[in-house]
Amino acid sequence: MRVPHSASARHGPSRDGAFPNCGSGIIGLMDKGSRTSQRRVPSDKLYGLEPTMSFLDLVHARYSCRAFTDEPVTDDELAKLLEAVRFAPTAKNAQPVRVWVFRSDEALAKIRACTSCHFGAPLLVLFGADAGAEGVFVRPSDGQNAALGDATIVAAHYMLEAKDLGLDTTWVGFFDTGKINEAFPQTVGYDLVGLFPTGHADPEKGRPTPRHTQRKELAEFVQEL
Ligand SMILES: Cc1cc2nc3c(=O)[nH]c(=O)nc-3n(C[C@H](O)[C@H](O)[C@H](O)COP(=O)(O)O)c2cc1C
Repeated sequence: MRVPHSASARHGPSRDGAFPNCGSGIIGLMDKGSRTSQRRVPSDKLYGLEPTMSFLDLVHARYSCRAFTDEPVTDDELAKLLEAVRFAPTAKNAQPVRVWVFRSDEALAKIRACTSCHFGAPLLVLFGADAGAEGVFVRPSDGQNAALGDATIVAAHYMLEAKDLGLDTTWVGFFDTGKINEAFPQTVGYDLVGLFPTGHADPEKGRPTPRHTQRKELAEFVQEL
């Protein structure tokens, strides 16, 4: 079954921000001998997509995974995730972003206490925007600070690279910023844009929810002027 990308259903009026199932030494890790040229999503993660993925295939294959197995994310995979982060575009190339990685037992226990949306993942990664970073782009016409948008782009790179590696993740915005700041003082002063539980999808509980295919029709939000 190919994941449809334009189902007719749209977000209903009950769109209330609720998320399903929420109740419940990194630098230099790149393995020089790692495989890079082959398709990197195992066929059992593709839900029937063709083995060679275009970018659009990748976009369709990505979904929010909310249950993970215990299988760890390898150092090589983490290095690739962070390389995708590093090469994301930012306004004026200011790179006003911070990334925090949680994968030790201690760090995982602390970050899991800050959100119900950790989904038991063996790796969590948090992205923060630094609006006061040197060189950050502030648009002269209206004063808009680009840091938040920059961090969002960087996080999107992470999310899509995860899928390309055959991993799964979910963009989580439901966390307690005060608790995170208290548990991890390094995060104070940053605008925390997203937390990403990351790992291998549980084959049963980690499948896409119906929301994954609920997309507006193009005509509802695209206008040619
Ligand atoms: C900014 C943002 C914040 C989100 N926060 C959460 C969250 O806290 N918990 C959660 O389970 N899903 C969260 N999601 C996932 C969305 O609910 C999900 O992307 C959407 O329902 C579409 O489903 P799909 O990702 O499976 O295609 C978030 C997504 C985005 C983009």
